[in-house]
Amino acid sequence: MAIISAIKNYQKAELNYVLGITFLGVSQSLIFTVGLLGASFLAVYEVSKGNKPVGSFVTLLSYWAQLGSPLAFFANFYRKIQTQMLDAERLLELFQRKPSVVDKPGAQEFQLKSGEIEFSDVCFAYDPRKPAIKNMSFRVAGGSTVALVGETGGGKTTCLKLLFRFFDVNSGSIKIDDQDIRGVTLWSLRENMGVVPQVCFRNSNAILSICSSCFQHRTLNSSTTR
Ligand SMILES: Nc1ncnc2c1ncn2[C@@H]1O[C@H](COP(=O)(O)OP(=O)(O)O)[C@@H](O)[C@H]1O
Ligand SMILES: [Mg+2]
Repeated sequence: MAIISAIKNYQKAELNYVLGITFLGVSQSLIFTVGLLGASFLAVYEVSKGNKPVGSFVTLLSYWAQLGSPLAFFANFYRKIQTQMLDAERLLELFQRKPSVVDKPGAQEFQLKSGEIEFSDVCFAYDPRKPAIKNMSFRVAGGSTVALVGETGGGKTTCLKLLFRFFDVNSGSIKIDDQDIRGVTLWSLRENMGVVPQVCFRNSNAILSICSSCFQHRTLNSSTTR
């Protein structure tokens, strides 16, 4: 219900916006055309009376053509500023969103040894009414190759998402080299993993944190290459 009323509100706002923009465009063109018509009539009148040479009419037309586009630019400028302010507002809202998975106070740096992975009694559900993983336990030795095979919707991708800590497990634990992944910093954990996901995760974290991670990474790279 909330979604339907939100869609209706959006459609109403969009209609108002389109009507407003169309009205603005039509009035702008009308003002330009009526202005040109008035100025032309005046010029023709003056020329026909012999008060002005024909060249003045030509000058008027070329001035008009030159002035037209800057005036139209300024008329559109206000609209553009408004749209950009709206975009900036959306971006600020995004900055304020808090990620659900964050570093615990006192989280340690992850230390990679052999890369042994251990799932112990892991339970996880995106929606509490429908568990995605129930009591899953397995151990993968470091350096080995393992394939998770199962029916669609069985929870294979969810396992990887949990390993990468896009979500925290509801119960049980995931350990890599005997370190619970909830007890280490996200940055140090993900820095040691390579994942080729089936879908692209662009915003797995707060945008500010992504920017600061990239910045850290670049500083690290530039200091190591120097
Ligand atoms: N982002 C999500 N939000 C809610 N449910 C999800 C989400 N991703 C997956 N699921 C559900 O979790 C279950 C396991 O999905 P998934 O791990 O993608 O399965 P697989 O990769 O084995 O096909 C499925 O029932 C799926 O519908
Ligand atoms: Mg999958």
